[in-house]
Amino acid sequence: MVTDAHGAAQLVADVLCRLLTVKRSAVLGLATGRTMAPAYAELSRRYRAGLVSLANATAVMLDEYLDLPASHPATFGSYLQRAVIDRTDLPPESLIGPDVHAANLDQACRLYERRIHDLGGVDLQLLGIGSNGHIGFNEPPATAATTTRVVPLDRRTRLDNAGPFCGLDDTPTRAITQGVGTILGARRIVLVALGTSKAAAVRAAVEFTPSEAAPASALRAHLDCTFILDIEAAAMLTRAPR
Ligand code: GLP
Repeated sequence: MVTDAHGAAQLVADVLCRLLTVKRSAVLGLATGRTMAPAYAELSRRYRAGLVSLANATAVMLDEYLDLPASHPATFGSYLQRAVIDRTDLPPESLIGPDVHAANLDQACRLYERRIHDLGGVDLQLLGIGSNGHIGFNEPPATAATTTRVVPLDRRTRLDNAGPFCGLDDTPTRAITQGVGTILGARRIVLVALGTSKAAAVRAAVEFTPSEAAPASALRAHLDCTFILDIEAAAMLTRAPR
């Protein structure tokens, strides 16, 4: 457990830097959202300080909105461009995501699964968590067997994510997400949850019997998964976290 977003950012950056030190060509699964922004800012600071290089790394996107123009600033691709590519030495061509503009989206999802497989899998998957318990955009109910696919977005998720859009009606209604099963294929997973709005979802993920109703609960089957929580996100846990 950490006291705040700054503490979480330091821990995430530590994990990224250690991995990139031992494996310069690491495949990084990058989540987006407000939670991850301080961690990417810290990664960029360490890059500028000469402490880490992403020149040989590959970054794999977790999810992406559908039905937005590629140039839209709220796409997760644009987010990662600003947060990571513009601020580190990760080559632009090393950021890989599903083809959300493909004529055949189901085929694009299958190709994305293949691409991740062909890269040798993800070394480290970073995750946030939705207030409804989603990981990526795997809205409940979502089983541990799900793979990359087109998903409709819950109203609650759209409300949570409406900030960069002009109201709820302008907020995308669907996305492509890695499946829960795809995420579980990563060799290591680090989930970060910050703030009171995540407390119920964290408790369901960590303490309730794993179920499709809490997609993040599937992470408990993973052998190397860490939750980084601030005090507010951990507030509903009945067993004390470390
Ligand atoms: C979003 C995205 C996830 C993100 C999570 C948390 O809707 N689908 O990739 O990790 O939900 O977002 P935030 O950090 O903004 O709360």
